[in-house]
Amino acid sequence: MPTSLRSWCLAATAAVVFASGVALAADDPDSAIQYRKSVMGTVGANMKGSALIIQGKVDFPANLAGHAHAIAEAAKLAPAAFKQNTDGQGSEKTTSTGDVWSDWAKFESGLKKLEEEAAKLAQIAESGDMAAAGAQLGALGKTCKACHDDFRDK
Ligand code: HEC
Repeated sequence: MPTSLRSWCLAATAAVVFASGVALAADDPDSAIQYRKSVMGTVGANMKGSALIIQGKVDFPANLAGHAHAIAEAAKLAPAAFKQNTDGQGSEKTTSTGDVWSDWAKFESGLKKLEEEAAKLAQIAESGDMAAAGAQLGALGKTCKACHDDFRDK
């Protein structure tokens, strides 16, 4: 094995050992906040892409299923991304309220709903029925609003 490859392997092994060693420790609050914002930003960006396609403002109908799948996948990442209670911690800007953690079961069920409605949009998108996709985009948008009303500072 070339030296450079060997040292990369050693570094990767060390990283795995290190990661497993700290798996139960809390992340620093600013990084935890940045991470969950990156997950929600993915949801937001793909929602925007879906809307532009469904409204016919861009002509990429074949891309719609991909955006919907991306939202469903991000929804699956979200429970872990939000798990750490950062209420009142860190200096990174956040709009999450403390209710995320005091009412976790409700918050988590909202994420489940997000995943389900996005998966439905993906299914409809694959059928190519843009009118039905528009109706489902509305249903998906309601899950965003319901959760943001309850769990985000305005
Ligand atoms: C179950 C709750 C929940 C659902 C459902 C949800 N969100 Fe959010 N979202 C949040 C919370 C909480 C934040 C605040 C994150 C923070 O700042 O810590 C957020 C933040 C965001 C952000 C800002 C990210 C940033 O960079 O600050 C965007 C964009 C977003 N959501 C879009 C959406 C869209 C679009 C949907 C629906 C398709 C959606 N969200 C569904 C709870 C939810």
